[in-house]
Amino acid sequence: MARILTGIQSTGVPHLGNLLGALEPGVKLSEQKDNTAIFFIADLHSLTSLKEPQARIENIRSVAAAWLACGFDTHQGILFRQSDVPEVCELTWYLNCFAPFPMLANAHSFKDKSAKQGLSEVNAGLFTYPVLMAADILLYDTDIVPVGKDQIQHIEITRDIASSINHQHGEIFILPKAQVEEQVKVVPGIDGQKMSKSYGNTINVFEEEKKLKKSINRIITGSEPLEAPKNPDNCTVFQLYSLLADTSEINTLRNAYLEGNFGYGAAKQILFEKIMEKYEVPRQKYMTFMQNPESIETALRLGQDKARAYATSVLDRVREALGFGSII
Ligand code: ADP
Ligand code: TRP
Repeated sequence: MARILTGIQSTGVPHLGNLLGALEPGVKLSEQKDNTAIFFIADLHSLTSLKEPQARIENIRSVAAAWLACGFDTHQGILFRQSDVPEVCELTWYLNCFAPFPMLANAHSFKDKSAKQGLSEVNAGLFTYPVLMAADILLYDTDIVPVGKDQIQHIEITRDIASSINHQHGEIFILPKAQVEEQVKVVPGIDGQKMSKSYGNTINVFEEEKKLKKSINRIITGSEPLEAPKNPDNCTVFQLYSLLADTSEINTLRNAYLEGNFGYGAAKQILFEKIMEKYEVPRQKYMTFMQNPESIETALRLGQDKARAYATSVLDRVREALGFGSII
């Protein structure tokens, strides 16, 4: 049984890039019989940047609702909120004391933000962000961590800290491996750059229909006249459609671009209809969950119980190896 673990920060409503790049592949992995899926909402990590409590609560709701709407089975796998397992903070402390300062100073999560905002504007939580992430992973004896390319360095840091402790104190930790889905391309946003909350270029498939349509209409395209043949390969509308449609549908749209007499407005309408078709059921489920936060809380409490059982057994092992706990 491989233990597969991943986390998503509660910093906003999951967008199309999150769904195609993380949630949907995660749900597929969790459905494989020989895997135990342990997925969580990284609300403690979100505190490094998001300070507003009500926003955090809403984001936790919407990330959990998105996992559930995408079909995560909370009886087969474990879905929980990071802060519901406070053992992770204790493990973070132990790991902090083995994490070399220069390694953390070199982590891109810290380097990029401190370079952009200035050292006085970043907090120590951001500096030790990779250590909390290492604790997330090591606390559950994780084998595999499915992540985007930007997180690979964090898994390397996790392995470095774990192997250094194992070397000094015996085999306490399982060394996890990153799993990066090569086929999932970077989903482009409405401006053609990588879709990301921080670029304000997202398509939110859970949004109400009119707003969703509006964001699709805002996708930046060429400005050739209707009659002109168009190149599908440098068009964001076509790229997004290709990530959602089947081969024959993609070919039909490709030919329409190449033949001309087909405008970008029509292409956007086809993309909109595809999103509405593909996400019809998840959209309904998402809405139902968001209207019933108690059902989300119940699902998270179930996850908390299961996650804590794993966590306490690993933490006991760590405490004992490091000389904490009983003195007899
Ligand atoms: P954002 O950039 O919007 O803040 P996150 O960094 O919270 O997104 O990403 C959460 C998960 O979604 C990560 O696993 C990340 O790799 C994946 N992801 C985010 N944006 C994209 C995208 N545009 N294409 C593919 N995967 C993405
Ligand atoms: N840092 C990850 C991100 O921003 C989220 C995360 C926190 C995570 N803890 C984790 C991912 C543990 C995988 C494993 O995407």
